Amino acid sequence: MVQRYDAVVVGAGGAGLMAALQLAGHGNVAVLSKLYPTRSHTGAAQGGIGAALGNLEEDHWEWHMFDTVKGSDYLADQDAVEILCREAIETVYDLEHWGLPFSRTPEGKIAQRPFGGHTKEFGKAPVRRSCYAADRTGHMILQTCYQQCIKHDVHFYNEYHVLDVLIEQGRCAGVVALCLATGEIHTFHAKAVLFASGGCGKMYRVSSNAHSLTGDGMAAVYRRGIPLEDMEFFQFHPTGIYKMGILLSEAARGEGAILRNKLNERFMERYAPTLLDLAPRDMVSRAIYREIREGRGIDGKNYVHLDMTHLGKKVLDEKLPDITEFARTYLGVEPLTHPVPIQPTAHYAMGGIPTDVEGRVVIDEKNTPLPGLYAAGEVACVSVHGANRLGTNSLVDILVFGRRGGRHAAKFIHENDWAPLPAQPEVGARDMVSRVLNSTGKERAADIRDTLQDEMMDKASVFRDAQGLTALRKKLGELRERYRQVKSEDRGTCYNTELLEVIELGCMLDLAEVLVESALAREESRGGHYREDFPKRDDATWLKHTLAYQTSKGIDLKFKPVVITKFQPMERKY
Ligand code: FUM
Repeated sequence: MVQRYDAVVVGAGGAGLMAALQLAGHGNVAVLSKLYPTRSHTGAAQGGIGAALGNLEEDHWEWHMFDTVKGSDYLADQDAVEILCREAIETVYDLEHWGLPFSRTPEGKIAQRPFGGHTKEFGKAPVRRSCYAADRTGHMILQTCYQQCIKHDVHFYNEYHVLDVLIEQGRCAGVVALCLATGEIHTFHAKAVLFASGGCGKMYRVSSNAHSLTGDGMAAVYRRGIPLEDMEFFQFHPTGIYKMGILLSEAARGEGAILRNKLNERFMERYAPTLLDLAPRDMVSRAIYREIREGRGIDGKNYVHLDMTHLGKKVLDEKLPDITEFARTYLGVEPLTHPVPIQPTAHYAMGGIPTDVEGRVVIDEKNTPLPGLYAAGEVACVSVHGANRLGTNSLVDILVFGRRGGRHAAKFIHENDWAPLPAQPEVGARDMVSRVLNSTGKERAADIRDTLQDEMMDKASVFRDAQGLTALRKKLGELRERYRQVKSEDRGTCYNTELLEVIELGCMLDLAEVLVESALAREESRGGHYREDFPKRDDATWLKHTLAYQTSKGIDLKFKPVVITKFQPMERKY
């Protein structure tokens, strides 16, 4: 079944909705989403969106840029970071004008609070930069952008899972998707396709990510010979609920919460004497694990405490209502009176599909664009986060680059006709589905996924070394063999979620292999990639991005330079 649109957006989180809004009015636009749009993972972003509005104290986009570059451990491309921080300001005002219910200052301005790594005067002290709607900022962004899309007649295909991207004569020609309700395969023939399908955090056991975040968009593009950039950099957010990984926003520490070990020490004093608990996430997550390794975890276990008991009922109720309720619901802990058990949780892929600052997907070290193909948000790597993302910058990224990608694609669909479809556009997708449904193998996806998540957590999380990564590479090879024998007990067509899980697992295996290969190659420590056998940052050799290509002989790694404009790499102290 072939449907024709001027533009197709894959994913209905903040980046996808923002891009669709820019495209609306320029042609027929379809958004394909594997979820109902307002269930997208943007809704889980809690503490705020960073923009130097200066509503509570002096602030400038240059300070925001400096913090983002330093937070990235100097791996971010500074031309892109400058755009991020400049355009963050008007993007937040756009949201306000669309009706987003921000929390307010007593004078009625958008309220702002401190967040990790955000400072004034190039690192002197924390600054209040995060614009927030209590601890539901992402949820509000999602609702607001979705309402705007409905108002502007964007066409949604909900519960459509994209299996393949079509490249013909060097151009993107569309995508092929599975309709979950019917099991039918659909070809969407499009002049432009923009991927905004989010990250891949479900390859880890303890993760803040929703079950849907299995890297489908990254994998679809990678399988078509397009590289993935900087996949070795995976962020662990310091404060996930112990064992479950559910996010407890950094906004808690922005409002004054403190991390404590079993001796009740504020241990961040030892690791980041200026910013303390508001140091960037890579540093705080490492500090937590160092405390645990040195025997100062609570009750000798692998968690520490997030102490909010001194913040008072008014702050918790008005500014942190959701996360305090999570602590009550999931742990039975009352945060007003008791500290909350937390551990670092797999949160965010800094790497992804390489793009330029217009959201165009680029295919090599020279940044050659692939006409008609775009990406924005966590699925993409533009790269504004480098080796470590600052809190609040994911929401800025999805909106600023969702908007830029959408605007460029709008121009592209005016100037270009449809690329021809390949002779049999659905053949790859149909094979993928029928291999699973007709498999006589004995393996279950859930068993393989369990092992994958445990192994990734054990050997490719906050601390890594060659021995662990090499063992993990071997284990991934075994899992790949087992995956060939995977089957779906459910052979039906209607809402076959088991089939979907098998397909998602295949994506995660591909991405785990890329992550491990890139992490093994990068013999240094930078941002979220900490090699215990190479504990120093090595700018002489490694101030460069990784590009991983799938080839018939395995993964081929290439490298491209980092764009440095205003800030030369320096030692990172907080
Ligand atoms: O802690 C948080 O509220 C998460 C924000 C982010 O990842 O940007």
